[in-house]
Amino acid sequence: MVIALNKLDKKIFNIVRKVGQSADKHSLPIYVVGGVVRDILLKKDIFDLDFVVEGDGIKLANILARELNLKPIVHSKFGTATLILQDNIRLDFVSARKEVYSYPGALPNVELGKLADDLFRRDFTINAMAIAINQDNFGVLIDKFNGSEDLSSGIIRVLHDKSYTDDPTRILRAVRFEQRLKFSINSHDLGLIKKTLKSKAINSVGQVRYFNEIKKMIVEENALACFKRLRILKAEKIIGARIRLDLKLLSKTISNIKGVKRDKFYQGQYSSWIFLFMAMVSPLSVNSLSKLIKRFGINNHDRNAILHSLKKEGIAQALSQRQLKGSQIYCILNQLPLETILFIRAYTSNKNVNVNIDHYLQRIAKVKLLSDGNDIKSLGNIAPKEIGKIISKLLLAKIDGLVKNKKEELNLAKKIKLDAGL
Ligand code: CTP
Repeated sequence: MVIALNKLDKKIFNIVRKVGQSADKHSLPIYVVGGVVRDILLKKDIFDLDFVVEGDGIKLANILARELNLKPIVHSKFGTATLILQDNIRLDFVSARKEVYSYPGALPNVELGKLADDLFRRDFTINAMAIAINQDNFGVLIDKFNGSEDLSSGIIRVLHDKSYTDDPTRILRAVRFEQRLKFSINSHDLGLIKKTLKSKAINSVGQVRYFNEIKKMIVEENALACFKRLRILKAEKIIGARIRLDLKLLSKTISNIKGVKRDKFYQGQYSSWIFLFMAMVSPLSVNSLSKLIKRFGINNHDRNAILHSLKKEGIAQALSQRQLKGSQIYCILNQLPLETILFIRAYTSNKNVNVNIDHYLQRIAKVKLLSDGNDIKSLGNIAPKEIGKIISKLLLAKIDGLVKNKKEELNLAKKIKLDAGL
């Protein structure tokens, strides 16, 4: 079958053609591969591209980087290289490889191989297809495991019976793709999953690898359906014996973030997975949560946000009064990570708390002073420590509408300075 790549978004098509032409110049067979092929066949939008090269993928990435004036990110150990184009389109290059697992669940040892080897090491038939992009076979689909048939019939199926024990994170991936694409894990695979869940292989994977898949699951549109499915498959234990998924809270949290996602002001300011994770771990004690955070290798910044979420009750209590001034709301919330605030918004059903949080997110958090440290400094002889304090007081006044323009800000600054005897 030949895929009409010219029907792709023009930008993506041009990249694919350019990469194919560069590979031709160096006589390197090259293919688009994996999830991208799945998404091309499903006519989904493509944002990133994965290429497999039969030969030196890093060399090709370096050549392209020079031609496009980009800096490649190279991982020689894994034979991979990444180029990030101006509009954030990510191109991943890998040398075709064989993976040999020294024991079930181990990270694979990698050897150079052919495209067929590379496809065979992949998870599901729908993710194990390739499209050739050299000029003489441009668009030819390579589908050794009937992935396109499974795509049409909506089936998630591994390539061989050892696949889940080789890599038990594939249980999470099967659920993720099943729910995302509204497919079904085929019945033979359900048996394999059941067996794997009972086997020792499940413990052979580091928690960090499971957690990376959980994070991907959390940010899926259908996250809730994924977690429900994990419960049905009795696969929740993969995430950790103590996690009790509060599906109701998870569902409230998911609908809550939708409003904030639409707000340009917050774009790029939060990690979606964290506040859903807060909903997942909400029943845990500080102690168990700290252990879990350590086991999952969560970094300090994220750790801080997650641990703050355990203070949800106290914070909600403080916000539950009706007549709070803007500056009071600011003082309660301003030190908290955005994810924690959103989580509390979802957690509580108290109307006042919700109104106060919305007021904070929609207005208070966006209030900015028109004067800066230099303006305050020019009022004369103020120590840097005092400048910070004056600015904080000015901001509170501005939030409460006591000053409106720069002149009023500076007048108030003078008054604060005088009152403090500075
Ligand atoms: N893969 C695999 N086994 C894993 C992880 C990944 O075989 N445990 C392969 C699959 O072929 C997959 C590709 O590596 O398609 C890329 O992995 P990933 O980016 O996680 O999957 P995508 O299919 O690209 O998923 P998404 O659409 O969520 O980006």
